[in-house]
This record gives sequence, C-alpha cells and structure tokens, in this order.
Amino acid sequence: MKAVVLEKSVSSQDLTVTEVDQPQPEDDEVLIKVKYSGVNYADILSRKGLYSWAGKRPYIMGLEAAGEVVETGKNVSDVEIGDRLVYGGQSGGYAEYLTVNQEYVLPAPENYTWEECAGFGVTFFTAWVAMHEMARVRPGETMLVHSAAGGVGTAAIQLGRVHGMQVFGTASQPHKRAKVEELGATAFSYDDFDTRLNEMEIRPDMVLETVGGDVYRRSFDLLAPMGRTVLVGASSIKVNKWNPLSLYRAYKALPSARMSQVLRRSRGFMGVHLGYMLKKPDILKPSWERMLEVIAEHDLHPEIDRVFPMSKVGEAHDWIDNRHNIGKVLLDPTE
Ligand SMILES: NC(=O)c1ccc[n+]([C@@H]2O[C@H](COP(=O)([O-])OP(=O)(O)OC[C@H]3O[C@@H](n4cnc5c(N)ncnc54)[C@H](OP(=O)(O)O)[C@@H]3O)[C@@H](O)[C@H]2O)c1
Repeated sequence: MKAVVLEKSVSSQDLTVTEVDQPQPEDDEVLIKVKYSGVNYADILSRKGLYSWAGKRPYIMGLEAAGEVVETGKNVSDVEIGDRLVYGGQSGGYAEYLTVNQEYVLPAPENYTWEECAGFGVTFFTAWVAMHEMARVRPGETMLVHSAAGGVGTAAIQLGRVHGMQVFGTASQPHKRAKVEELGATAFSYDDFDTRLNEMEIRPDMVLETVGGDVYRRSFDLLAPMGRTVLVGASSIKVNKWNPLSLYRAYKALPSARMSQVLRRSRGFMGVHLGYMLKKPDILKPSWERMLEVIAEHDLHPEIDRVFPMSKVGEAHDWIDNRHNIGKVLLDPTE
C-alpha cells in the first residue's frame, strides 16, 4: 500500500510516498481503508523532529484519518465490516490502510461527508476538551480563541457560539478574519486584540491558547478574575535545534504561569494534550459521545480548507506552515 514514512527529520520537499506492506489486523484490531487523512500542525513539528509525542522513527506519519472497516480480528465484537470510523493515534494516518485496536476506534457522525469525518476529530475534540472538560465554560461567558481561522480555532468558535458564549478570535490576515466573523465571533489581529478588548471593557473568561510567546503573555494579562487559559499549542514558536540561542528563545516563549500570578489574581492555567490522553479511552469516550450529541443537535460541521493528493504531502505541510489554510487540510491517499 502507499504510505508516507518518516525515517528522519526532513524538509517538506523531501517527504515522499513509498510502498509498504499492508498491515494485517491482530485478533483485537480492525483494518480500516482510509478515505482521507487529516494533516495537523503537529505533523509539521514531527517532520522537523520537534514534537515530543511523536513515536520512534521510522513510522507512518499522520495522527488522524477516517475510513471504512474492511476486516476485523477474531476477538472484535463491537465493530463490523462497513462501519465508518474515525482514527486518532500516534502514527499511521498518511496511508491507504491502517489497523487499530477496537478499544480505540471512534464512530463518525452519520451525516458527515468523508472529508468532514477526517477533518473534525482532532479539531473539534481539542476545542471540546479544552472548553468543556478543562475550562468548564458556561453560557454567557466570553472566550478568546487564537489562530481562530485554523482547524481547532474554527471548531472552537462554533462550539462556543452554540454554548451561548461571546467569542473573540485572532487571525493574521483579513480574509481569515472574515471567516472568523462569518462563524459568529468578533475578529481581531494579533497586533491589537488586547487594545480592542480593553476598549470594549471585556476581559475573557477563557483563552484558547494556540500561539504562545507575546500573544500568550498579553492574553493571560487580559483574563477576567476566575478566568482560565487553556494551552493547546504554541504555533509561533520556531526552533532551530542546533542553535543554542534559538533553543533559549523558544524556551522563553513557551507559555508558563507563575503560581503567584495565578493565585493573587484567581486565574487558571491549564493544558490539554489529546495524544497523551489517548490511552485513557474510559475518560475520553464519554466526552467524545457528549461532543457528538452537541454536534448533531446543532448541525455543526468542520471547515475543510483543501484536499491534497497524498503524493503532494510536502505541499500540504507548506500550505499550513505558511499560514494559508482556513480550517482543515486533508490528504487523499488514493492519489
Ligand atoms: N494539544 C492538543 O491536543 C492539540 C491538538 C490539535 C492541535 N493542537 C495545536 O493547536 C494549534 C492549532 O492546530 P491546527 O492543527 O488547527 O492548526 P491551524 O490553526 O490550522 O494552523 C496553525 C495556525 O497557527 C497560526 N500561527 C500563529 N503564529 C504562527 C506562526 N508563527 N507560524 C505558523 N502559524 C502560526 C496560523 O494562523 P494565523 O495565520 O491566523 O495566525 C496558522 O494557520 C496548533 O498549535 C496545534 O499544535 C493541539
């Protein structure tokens, strides 16, 4: 089968599709024929050797995919051939087929297209866990979402709006800010979001932090008393591993909070990493089910930006790394 195997840190142009053996399901596993694979910002960090959760190389890249079950192991009881599933895991997404233990498979929403099935899992669930499991947001609260036109950002805006929240979002370019507004949030640039919120006398109850550095510090300062920052990423932090000054700068730009600030101003500083939680399906699955109910009740859909053929995987990485995407980028493994 065709797959993108990462053997060492490479530039985007050096990512290639290779032929590897098709995996066979073990007794507790199912074999999924992948329809589309999701491309995540974390894949770019993995390719550069900068992602702490990445597996041991060589591995097939890709943290998520959606597809149809085509074979089941002999102990598999809850999943049937033909089921539509969403996959999330440490590797294996950029391939024509993947195997997964039945314990970790997630059902896909019935009314979604295959593109939507592959594009909503990580985006919506990251936003959902940050908002509902960590920050425990309430209707009427205010939320500031950074990189709001991205995959996670567009999901967070939608989840916030249907929960009765007032949502504000940052994005780097006017056409991205237009999308943020279209989804029901008030859009700002990174340059002036704090000035604008101060003018409006609004202090966010929650910040969904995805950017890091100065953006993080200015946002944390803005938080309302009893406000919560939930850190999910830090896309602005660029590291050159071989340059000690770059490493030092990246370390300084990583979001962190002094307990004295947290305590004196009654604020929360939290983090979410879905990857490290994946081995806890007993905790994640009930939350996933609750999220699916909300998605169905309000007919929410992920923003799909573009589908690249898997043979153009490097271009897909560059598209995100160069900040072109609005919503989710996917790969078609058949092309
Ligand atoms: N913790 C978790 O479990 C988890 C799960 C999924 C994603 N994440 C994190 O959540 C964030 C969003 O992920 P995503 O996959 O949905 O990506 P994305 O938001 O679709 O793409 C990344 C966005 O980051 C923004 N950005 C800000 N500064 C940047 C810079 N210096 N260079 C490049 N991009 C910059 C860009 O939007 P603008 O051009 O508008 O600034 C860019 O479009 C990422 O930090 C990712 O690592 C975390």
